[in-house]
Amino acid sequence: MPQLPAPDYPADVRARLEADAKEVIARYPDSRSALLPLLHLVQSEEGHVTRTGMQFCADVLGLTTAEVTAVATFYTMYRRKPSGDYQVGVCTNTLCAVMGGDAIFEDLKQHLGVGNNETTEDGKVTLEHIECNAACDFAPVVMVNWEFFDNQTPGSARQLVDDLRAGREVQPTRGARLCTFKETARILAGFPDEREGAVDESGGAGPASLIGLRLAKGETVPARVVHPRGEAPQGDSAPEHLSSHDAPQQTSASDPDHPAGPTAEEGE
Ligand code: FES
Repeated sequence: MPQLPAPDYPADVRARLEADAKEVIARYPDSRSALLPLLHLVQSEEGHVTRTGMQFCADVLGLTTAEVTAVATFYTMYRRKPSGDYQVGVCTNTLCAVMGGDAIFEDLKQHLGVGNNETTEDGKVTLEHIECNAACDFAPVVMVNWEFFDNQTPGSARQLVDDLRAGREVQPTRGARLCTFKETARILAGFPDEREGAVDESGGAGPASLIGLRLAKGETVPARVVHPRGEAPQGDSAPEHLSSHDAPQQTSASDPDHPAGPTAEEGE
């Protein structure tokens, strides 16, 4: 059975979106190049990309709905069903996973009572696991509406989602203040981001990331001294901690309950 046409936006909403779309399209030499920001624009209206939104994009860009749907369903930043005000993404790529990302994700699933890409009953939080966001020196990383919450633990991530659901203010580790998913979508559509701290000229990179930049500029960086296991560096010879990951970690050498190497039985 052929699908019914998507319902249109109310006249006032459509007029407002058409004015916004005109502004976005004017930035490109070829109007179809505006499809990605326009999908963010319609997402900012309803919180996800609806059939109405896709029909709108097709209309203003002279594309078919099939062409628009192909793009909207390809990129994971476009949500296809009603979701929460806060998209909580836990990085479970390799580095974050081994630094605790997998544990955080499992813990939040239990704590919130939702699975991947599911939303809490109060409509506040949508949980998802995300791929690497190039913030590996702050692993494990959690992102809320694409703002960074660095060096998380299951406990801190639980507190974060509790605060979001209770309407308490939370502050990302870096960058601008947090805003709702709809507000974020409008910024991603290319409209001005006037939040304080939104433009961070340092790029928000951590010390470990900036070593590459310093080397590229011809600066030298202190050599790292690798000490044998269990021998903590003393006094002035202690190396600078470049990030939390360079700080002494619990290892098998410092954890007598989990010794390294062959067990006594294996060694016999
Ligand atoms: S692996 Fe998580 S930010 Fe890179």
